Amino acid sequence: MTQSLEQIIASASADFAACADAPSLENAKAKYLGKTGAVTDLLKGMATLSPEEKKTRGAEINRTKDAIEAALRARRDALAADALNAKLAAESIDVTLPGRGKGQGGIHPVIRTWQRVEEIFGSIGFDVADGPEIEADWFNFTALNNPPNHPARSMQDTFYVDMNGTDGLPLLLRTHTSPMQVRYARMHASDVTTKGKPIKVIAPGRTYRVDSDATHSPMFHQVEGLWIDENISFADLKGVYTDFLRRFFESDDLQVRFRPSYFPFTEPSAEIDMKFESGPLKGKWLEISGSGQVHPSVVRNFGLDPERYIGFAFGSGLERLTMLRYGIGDLRLFFEGDLRFLKQFA
Ligand code: PHE
Repeated sequence: MTQSLEQIIASASADFAACADAPSLENAKAKYLGKTGAVTDLLKGMATLSPEEKKTRGAEINRTKDAIEAALRARRDALAADALNAKLAAESIDVTLPGRGKGQGGIHPVIRTWQRVEEIFGSIGFDVADGPEIEADWFNFTALNNPPNHPARSMQDTFYVDMNGTDGLPLLLRTHTSPMQVRYARMHASDVTTKGKPIKVIAPGRTYRVDSDATHSPMFHQVEGLWIDENISFADLKGVYTDFLRRFFESDDLQVRFRPSYFPFTEPSAEIDMKFESGPLKGKWLEISGSGQVHPSVVRNFGLDPERYIGFAFGSGLERLTMLRYGIGDLRLFFEGDLRFLKQFA
């Protein structure tokens, strides 16, 4: 038989409560409030009643309908609130999580030296030049008085590339920055002869040799220096280089010594040694650079008349300068990429 009004309300509330989302709730609603729903059936059933009975029965059915609608609204609101809470939970940020942090980069100690060298020489009017690491035999050796089969070549054994340069000889990884003397001077020779502008340049960069131990690396850095004009003498080299070292090491009492040596492209040639007057290296003479007065035939290879133009060159190791500045004993530390080492310079 037909259910009581209270039963209908109870069953509607139970059905609504069982709905887990808005679409199923709308389906459940149709079962009670739709065209063929329970409330509509109740209203249809009134047709046979007397006017008196209709009045009371109609009021009861309306209360039933209101109760069902109230239950529906309550369930709708509850579902909407659940959905919102779920969305908020999914989008929430846990502010107590530790942050990812910013990885802080630093400048490599050898590059710091490179920058410092550029700064010091820049302040006394030296230009800075850059050149190829894969070099032609002529620039690296022959133009520097080091022809094929010259014994001095074996002092700088290197890596050859399986491709010939325009000189018909295999290209190679430059063994020193000295080829930059030739490249730069040839490019600026006409400024010297027509404008009277001297060649005054440093060329820092990577260099390569077949060498590997605590004080030698197959790849290392040098800085070349070259000053050519009508009357640049060995005294200028001594002045410029001594001043550079004193500024680089921030030590006014640094002693500098020029010890006779041999390079095919300079004559006379000298090894530059320095002596610390304090600190852990106090009293020791340490070799820091090759140098010399540029050989006349090299000046000719610059495209300049060696009877008129003269000057000096030097080539210093940037790792060496860095090791001495910071007291580092093993060159390999520079190339291992160990952050515990590198962080000390950041
Ligand atoms: N190029 C030489 C070397 O690597 C150093 C040097 C440079 C010597 C310039 C004299 C003049 O050993």
